[in-house]
Amino acid sequence: MKFGIICVSDRCFSGEKEDTSGPAIIQCVKELSDKNEYRLVPDEKEMIAQAIVALSDEYGADVVFTTGGTGFAPRDVTPEATKSVIEKEVPGISEAIRAKSLEITDRAMLSRAVSGIRGKTLIINLPGSPKAVRESIEVVLPILEHAVETLSGNTLSCGGNYGR
Ligand code: MTE
Repeated sequence: MKFGIICVSDRCFSGEKEDTSGPAIIQCVKELSDKNEYRLVPDEKEMIAQAIVALSDEYGADVVFTTGGTGFAPRDVTPEATKSVIEKEVPGISEAIRAKSLEITDRAMLSRAVSGIRGKTLIINLPGSPKAVRESIEVVLPILEHAVETLSGNTLSCGGNYGR
């Protein structure tokens, strides 16, 4: 499995702050794979969209995680950038992350994160702190392998148990 990791942050991009959320993602997925490519972009819709496209279409990531820019701040546009490049939405993933996160903090309802599919790549928005990243990735890790296999066409959806 290959991962794409995109940190979306004006402050990290300008060098004012160090990105700790991107490394948290890499740490969380390392049990599945250590093959990954990392990008750091500011809160600019076009640059976020371009990074998602590059990691999906050129690098060929199975899963792209973004971190940051999902909230209410005027410059938070990660969900809008993501929606501009996905072909299918996968609401269940973001719904599950929010539902589990709500057990930890009411502020989970402030994340407008979306998930979706572009070609054979699954794209998942995560909020922008290492704590939120760990709490959110924990929710999706158990389904990632099956999701990626299904997307690549190597297995039938739901293990081919239709009709049984
Ligand atoms: N989800 C989890 N699991 N844990 C958190 O601490 N923080 C919330 C929310 N989701 C949080 C969370 C907060 S405070 C905000 S503002 C939103 O995510 C959006 O974060 P972002 O703008 O950094 O993407």
